Amino acid sequence: MRTKIAAGNWKMNGLRGSLTELLLIASTEVEQAEIIIFPPMTLLAEAASAVQGTRTKIGAQNCHQAVNGAYTGEVSAEMIENIGATHVIIGHSERRALYGESDEIVKAKAAAAHSAGLTAIICIGESLEMRQAGEADHFCAAQLLASLPEGASASNTIIAYEPIWAIGTGLVPSNADIAQMHARLRENLPDAEAMRILYGGSVKPSNAAEIFAVDNVDGGLVGGASLKAEDFSAIIRAAETAMG
Ligand code: PGA
Repeated sequence: MRTKIAAGNWKMNGLRGSLTELLLIASTEVEQAEIIIFPPMTLLAEAASAVQGTRTKIGAQNCHQAVNGAYTGEVSAEMIENIGATHVIIGHSERRALYGESDEIVKAKAAAAHSAGLTAIICIGESLEMRQAGEADHFCAAQLLASLPEGASASNTIIAYEPIWAIGTGLVPSNADIAQMHARLRENLPDAEAMRILYGGSVKPSNAAEIFAVDNVDGGLVGGASLKAEDFSAIIRAAETAMG
């Protein structure tokens, strides 16, 4: 059985005081579910120290594809690994849309993450126009294939399906649509049986249990609802319950 994951993407939110919230999240009592929090870069090192000895892992929201060099303002995968983080989100739709990250760049960043020993959470997802045109499944399958580097396996890669129109909007696809998409994505994966596919986009305490019970959904990548410990702890417990 694939272990369910509750992953919290804080985006550009969080000051040092937010570490209190992180510790509350890390104290959520679960035995099986994996917990990963993605704070902003400025809190990464402190967050990694703070959760030592708990089940909670820490990841970055982005990395550069080069090992090092003249890239002012950028952070490499090795630097992220070096401060005790274990995961990195690659190709979030906000980075694809706002910072021009193509599938090719996403693939290079994921390869850099793997080389540094980090687990890459590779994000994919369709726009509302594509969903309405009936092209979502085809688009996402192709985007996934183009974003996966050589050597991607269940031990170094997690997929996050995040329909762009569901992110931060309160809109969520039907369970049937999520099931159909996740089944289609799994068909195209290397290491298909073992690789985790998360759902992301307006996951909340009120819908997490239902979504995590959908076939081929191995947990969630959560934005807004990961900022409050009370809400995210409920989502973690939903991931635990979904494992039976
Ligand atoms: P949301 O964001 O949970 O606020 O919709 C999800 C994400 O962007 O990962």
